[in-house]
Amino acid sequence: MYTALYRRFRPSDFDEVVGQEAIVTSLKNQIKNNMVSHAYLFTGSRGTGKTSMAKIFAKAVNCLEPIDGNPCNHCKNCLAIANGDSTDIIEIDAASNNGVNNIRELREDVKYPPSVGKYRVYIIDEVHMLSQGAFNALLKTLEEPPAYIIFILATTDPQKVPVTISSRCQRYDFKRIPANRIVDRLMDISKEVNITLQPEAALLIARKAEGALRDALSILDECIAFCGSTIARNDVLEVLGITAEDSLAEIIKALNERDASRCVGIVDQEYMNGKDPAQFTRDLIGILRDLLFIKTVNGPKEMLDLPESEYKSLNMLSSMMDIREIIRIIDALTETEHSLRYATQPLIVLETSLIKLCLGAELAEDAAPKEDNSIIQRTTEHALSGTQNKDINRPVKKDKVPENRDKGNDIKGQKASLAKAEPDRGFDKLKSAWPNILSSAKQKSMVLFAYLTEGTPVGFDGSTLKISYKSDGSFFREEMEKPENSEIVENIIKEITGLNVKMECIIEGENEKEDEFMARVFEVFDGMDIKIMKE
Ligand SMILES: Nc1ncnc2c1ncn2[C@@H]1O[C@H](COP(=O)(O)OP(=O)(O)OP(=O)(O)O)[C@@H](O)[C@H]1O
Ligand SMILES: [Mg+2]
Ligand SMILES: [Zn+2]
Repeated sequence: MYTALYRRFRPSDFDEVVGQEAIVTSLKNQIKNNMVSHAYLFTGSRGTGKTSMAKIFAKAVNCLEPIDGNPCNHCKNCLAIANGDSTDIIEIDAASNNGVNNIRELREDVKYPPSVGKYRVYIIDEVHMLSQGAFNALLKTLEEPPAYIIFILATTDPQKVPVTISSRCQRYDFKRIPANRIVDRLMDISKEVNITLQPEAALLIARKAEGALRDALSILDECIAFCGSTIARNDVLEVLGITAEDSLAEIIKALNERDASRCVGIVDQEYMNGKDPAQFTRDLIGILRDLLFIKTVNGPKEMLDLPESEYKSLNMLSSMMDIREIIRIIDALTETEHSLRYATQPLIVLETSLIKLCLGAELAEDAAPKEDNSIIQRTTEHALSGTQNKDINRPVKKDKVPENRDKGNDIKGQKASLAKAEPDRGFDKLKSAWPNILSSAKQKSMVLFAYLTEGTPVGFDGSTLKISYKSDGSFFREEMEKPENSEIVENIIKEITGLNVKMECIIEGENEKEDEFMARVFEVFDGMDIKIMKE
């Protein structure tokens, strides 16, 4: 059976961990000096080595012959842990064991000393998922742990861990791993599995992985499955569904020349090739952001971390463009990107937006005053901060569209039905059934229940039920949006209320745009001579 690369290449000692040197040094020193503490909190974004580090640490504290703080990986304790045979290491997934009772069991459990090694190590993954009660129950043990117990709590979301808990732990923040380190690791691993990975392909994977080595290895896995033993940059582009830079650069050139029909032509072509308009828009924004970088930042070349050939062509492109023009396009496309989340006809929305951009000068004359500097300021900040927050490249879910808007491809028809819609039809029914829905969800899955209770049903338009999460609830929203979760809930709702409901999860305050958006689409179409019967 094929073992995923990220499992196969789990670091087995501290020196194999990439990019977390400060943490490695500190933990090794503790082991060398025999000064280990009883509780650790490992935080940091996904796939950066938290669980791996916890396991290495657990091996090291129990190793019979540690070498310079590292586990030897040969003694019977190391081998037992590596094979998963040791009873002295207990891994708990807090996401599925988040209740008070789970922690009660744990409290009983810690009374027993280790069977073979020196320490029993509890690794509690996703610790932020523990319920309040469970945290409270854990607190007791954390306060007076038996001498032979070590807790390693790991989480991607430290804000959700109560201070009472985190203040009793030594905290280590895992960093996103720099792209060049990911590249090195990818190249090493490829060599080991006899894959020819071109450096430019590795760089692209590394950029896409956003600092998560596990993600990088997963992408590499996909590439291997897709193209076998030689992986070139274009293969990666294909696997990731990223639009080839050529057509992006072409569009930007066309935009710069205000050539609307060429813009539409290229977008159509890409759409025919199976590209998703939302992804295409994000890719465009990504390139424009790079252009803005080149124009505004000292030493952009180093910061952008692009292959030479690509940097050259971007540099050329940026030299042809005015900085205000770049900002104007980013601003418009950012709005387009937002609108596309709710669009039933994404291709048209994107095309319209590009046409508008090409006609920009004329349209702007009708519209009121000149853009003021504060807008430029804001846009620039947004664009620049985008390099940190690379959400822009992440694929979005499609088909998140309320059904009653899905049908009509005649915009006028939609307009009429939108006006007639009774927004809250059935909502009362749903609200009063909500407690039943929750308890039914609870029976199916505790975790699902936990996710659901974090949100509040806030609206129903006859087909789409909106669940609102607090501003820090994006984790729950993401989980609830996974089809395997949302479908269960939708079925429960159907069972209990008889309503066919699609769930849509929103974050408080982020949802105002939707209706505004439909209104804007009509506005745009009213003013223009565009065929709207298109798929
Ligand atoms: N710093 C790293 N050095 C080497 N390999 C790493 C590192 N981080 C992640 N990996 C690779 O990714 C895999 C998963 O890493 P790990 O489970 O330790 O991440 P994590 O931080 O615990 O992620 P999550 O937050 O999703 O639990 C490892 O088996 C390894 O292949
Ligand atoms: Mg982990
Ligand atoms: Zn050992």
